[in-house]
Amino acid sequence: MVRKIGISTGGGDCPGLNAVIRAVVRAARLHYRWDVIGIEDGFDGLIFARNLKLLTLKDITGILHRGGTILGTTNRGNPFKHITIEDGKEVIKDLTPKILENIEILGLDAIISIGGDGTLAIARDLYNLGVPIVGVPKTIDNDLSATDLTFGFTTAVNTATEALDMLHTTAESHHRVMVVEVMGRDAGWIALESGIAGGADVILIPEIPFDIEKVVHKVKRRQISGSRFSIVVVAEGALPMGGEKSIIAEASEAYQSVRLGGIGYQLGHAIQEKSGIETRVVVLGHLQRGGSPNAFDRILATRFGAAAADLVHEGKFGYMVCLRGRRIESVPIEAAIGQPKRVNPDGQVVLTAEMMGIEFGRVPVDEVAFDEVEQGKE
Ligand code: F6P
Repeated sequence: MVRKIGISTGGGDCPGLNAVIRAVVRAARLHYRWDVIGIEDGFDGLIFARNLKLLTLKDITGILHRGGTILGTTNRGNPFKHITIEDGKEVIKDLTPKILENIEILGLDAIISIGGDGTLAIARDLYNLGVPIVGVPKTIDNDLSATDLTFGFTTAVNTATEALDMLHTTAESHHRVMVVEVMGRDAGWIALESGIAGGADVILIPEIPFDIEKVVHKVKRRQISGSRFSIVVVAEGALPMGGEKSIIAEASEAYQSVRLGGIGYQLGHAIQEKSGIETRVVVLGHLQRGGSPNAFDRILATRFGAAAADLVHEGKFGYMVCLRGRRIESVPIEAAIGQPKRVNPDGQVVLTAEMMGIEFGRVPVDEVAFDEVEQGKE
């Protein structure tokens, strides 16, 4: 018999988190008559039992359209390997016993954990320790294979597309190449979809290592044919053929994935050097994670939140909600975090983009055409 549940958000924020929180609280209060405790800053809030708050309907009024998360979040830390400083030294401790104790003290019958692959992996491990936990997948990167889409993704694509629309006019006026670096970690979904929607000339994604010569060929060719500007969208995880990803910081115990970034500037520099065309670089960064979720993401987040409450009601712990086609379903968290979802380099969307003349840095250069470009005949 469920009476009281906890809810937390973990990992990087994304548009739609508040819509999930609102949906869970509404389903819990109006439909199931449960109490809901808001847990702050991911699992940290449960370890230290701080700032725990009973969430009423009033608390979640007016948050449907708000970006971020009213519960706070963190993409550092893991309760199984919690880092503290003792006598000036870093000490790693398993603090999950504190979590189990606090769940008991608070009388929580279930926990709904909203997060990406890192948070869900912790949720899976807590479930294996006996915690009654249900997952809700989130990430702007859309790289979770068990769900067709994660909320936040289409809003991030909208944001990047709007940026590309704006950059088109200035690129065109100045006859420049604009390189736009977007997020996505090791997946190229944001770059691919915003690039198509925003009319990019070149899209570079981690799934297709690129040949810089082909990129340069494309922008030169456009210039010679009278289109004196080019828009290049590059995913933060994209890499040159035979080269490496551009990393800002290596992974550590505290921050479990590498921090990507810098490929935009490297690429912009190479394009300007090799083509002689003035090039500017824009890194969209966390703009893609902020702002109001679009209508699609609000609806998906609401459906996920309601479905997570249903999973708790059914006692389906260790599961997470997911989208399959147009239906909300559920899968074991274990299955969800195995294989990341990547763009298929030979899939329909990439092939369609190539039919539209978008360069992925892999289309074999037609040697004859290339010579003509070099000689300015095209
Ligand atoms: O996973 C979401 C994401 O925004 C990635 O696209 C990006 O690489 C990363 O998080 C950035 O994280 P941080 O908030 O630590 O800068």
